[in-house]
Amino acid sequence: MIYLKTPEEIRLVKAACELTSRTLGEVARWIAPGVTTRKLDTIAREFILDNGGKPACLGYQGFPGTLCIEVNDVVVHGFPSNYALREGDIVGTDLVVELDGFMGDSCYTFAVGDVDPKVLDLCRTAKESLYEGIKAAKVGRRIGDISNAVQTYCEHRGYSVVREMTGHGIGRNMHEDPEVPNYGRRGIGAVLRNGMCICIEPMINMGSRNITIDADGWTCRTRDHKPTAHYEHTIAMVDDEPQVLTTFDYISEVLQDRFI
Ligand code: MF3
Ligand code: CO
Repeated sequence: MIYLKTPEEIRLVKAACELTSRTLGEVARWIAPGVTTRKLDTIAREFILDNGGKPACLGYQGFPGTLCIEVNDVVVHGFPSNYALREGDIVGTDLVVELDGFMGDSCYTFAVGDVDPKVLDLCRTAKESLYEGIKAAKVGRRIGDISNAVQTYCEHRGYSVVREMTGHGIGRNMHEDPEVPNYGRRGIGAVLRNGMCICIEPMINMGSRNITIDADGWTCRTRDHKPTAHYEHTIAMVDDEPQVLTTFDYISEVLQDRFI
């Protein structure tokens, strides 16, 4: 069941998204070799609470963090830990914030110091594919048009697309219908309508698309342990067009010329 949002509800999702984006901007200040992923998690949690929000992932089905931490071969759902970031790592931080009963969801993959240009290209391609997906979202078109735009963009550049994890609708709940896969055919799936709020989140691999889940039941990795990159925006369909409710502008302000 897809819940179409009123303009007032979209305003509330947008407010949650704004806090989500500002929080990732705070996390960006701390990305450096030697910083533990638990430190990043604490920074995010405190910033959200200081600004009247709730960390929506913390405790969700038992998840132990505010941020999902995705270092190198981790696709999604890694735990914050005492792991200290190393020069050459990439680290994704995926965040859902609740504000006034509505959710915002965004993810950004950061480079830690100098990173192999091949890995940077993976990150750039994953990020660009997110915007390709957003461009494909028009009222009257279908979810499959978004999926196909992401898949085509990445596979044409030699990367593979994770299939087991998808984007999703969002609103009062973190996960609502419809599912938003990052692969598939044009013209299939739900029709996009004004009032829909969805999260588009490509998870793109350097090697094969296959994944495994660790014994902790959560941490999802590439099966070949090659790097993977993940970016996510929450969008709303308004006046027949996609309105991007989260933003990476706070991150780019912090990173300046290190923004990838
Ligand atoms: N941010 C993730 C998503 O995009 C959800 C995190 S799963 C959780 O769907 F359990 F950690 F909350
Ligand atoms: Co999401």
